[in-house]
Amino acid sequence: MRLLVIHGPNLQLLGRRQPEIYGTADLREINRQLQREARTRGVTLTIVQSDHEGRIVELIGRAKGRYDALVINPAAYTHTSVAIRDAIEASGTPTVEVHLSNIAAREAFRQRSLIAPVCRGQISGFGSASYRLGLEAAIGLVDRTPRGRRARGAGTRRRAPGGRARRS
Ligand code: DQA
Repeated sequence: MRLLVIHGPNLQLLGRRQPEIYGTADLREINRQLQREARTRGVTLTIVQSDHEGRIVELIGRAKGRYDALVINPAAYTHTSVAIRDAIEASGTPTVEVHLSNIAAREAFRQRSLIAPVCRGQISGFGSASYRLGLEAAIGLVDRTPRGRRARGAGTRRRAPGGRARRS
């Protein structure tokens, strides 16, 4: 299973940027945790951070067929980017939106996500754990598809305790 994690603008500043809101973990630490978790789950993870809306749109545009699902923190573009929203919709790749802070409890302009309606779900407010939960959610989405089950080697014949082969 291949997943793409996209961090939007200013997230390279994590750890230094408003730690009372976004926490003290920096992006390298968050990415290390994600890669560690992905390895134990047998998932191949590509992680990209970009401050540029067009670059994020291109990454999503190329995701179909390359990745089984996306995990995205669109950061400030959450509240402004029709282009990212359209790219996710056009790609058809299952997408999980994540936020470190609870955007529903913040300024009015942050409470609306243009991205949420084209995502399979949103995880918001758990600090760096939002990414881990987002990864978990994305794996769950893919696992529910036949292609995802094959990608993780499921569906092969295994010996059941009673000695008879069964499908996992
Ligand atoms: C954020 C919330 C956004 O409103 C903000 O612009 C960010 C980070 C979050 O993870 O909580 O840059 O996406």
